[in-house]
Amino acid sequence: LKPEDCAAIRDWPGYYRAVRGKGPRETLLAALDAFDREGPPGHAVDLGCGEGRDTVEMLRRGWRVLAIDGHPEAFEHLRRRVGTEPRLTTRVEAFEHAALPREIDLVNASFALPFCGPAEFPSVWSRIVASLRPGGRFAGQLFGDRDSWATLPDRAHLSRSDVEGLLEVFHVEHLREEERDGNDERKKAKHWHVYHVVARKR
Ligand SMILES: C[S@@+](CC[C@H](N)C(=O)[O-])C[C@H]1O[C@@H](n2cnc3c(N)ncnc32)[C@H](O)[C@@H]1O
Repeated sequence: LKPEDCAAIRDWPGYYRAVRGKGPRETLLAALDAFDREGPPGHAVDLGCGEGRDTVEMLRRGWRVLAIDGHPEAFEHLRRRVGTEPRLTTRVEAFEHAALPREIDLVNASFALPFCGPAEFPSVWSRIVASLRPGGRFAGQLFGDRDSWATLPDRAHLSRSDVEGLLEVFHVEHLREEERDGNDERKKAKHWHVYHVVARKR
């Protein structure tokens, strides 16, 4: 199965197998590169860390990371990759209930926030913003209202103006709106509508 087939039905263990060995997301790399130009590594939250492709990269580059995911199997993969790393804290927790620390330098959420319940999304976003220090960054993806999954009732999908509203308290460093049809071998391609975001809190 492809990662998106697993994600469509929230088969997270299947997703972790399907993405095994993949490198960090470009939005994370752009944020880390921007921080590198400003000073030493800081403290990040990886929301919906999954099997750890981004957390591993942050640790490798000297960051302290609080990795949060709702599925316990995520951390079996992650711990297998990094062992007892003292700069890593993990919490099995739903975004909808996660209390986030203050004065965080980076909140990374790669392909994760759309899986938050739509009714809870605004409060999850407010907690992300509140957790960031001024000058801290958000990196990750938000999903658009023309994405195939926007019709699913348990997903948080956003219009361009919704996204611009969310980012009002940020200086937007990178905002790429991607819209395309997936590969279609079986005539049920997913239509992707994704916002790739790196933004610095004012
Ligand atoms: C598509 S995967 C992305 C994983 C990783 N960030 C990446 O870029 O590959 C989504 C992750 O979010 C987690 N997740 C989904 N809904 C969640 C929720 N409501 N609360 C916490 N974690 C959730 C899943 O367990 C899964 O690991």
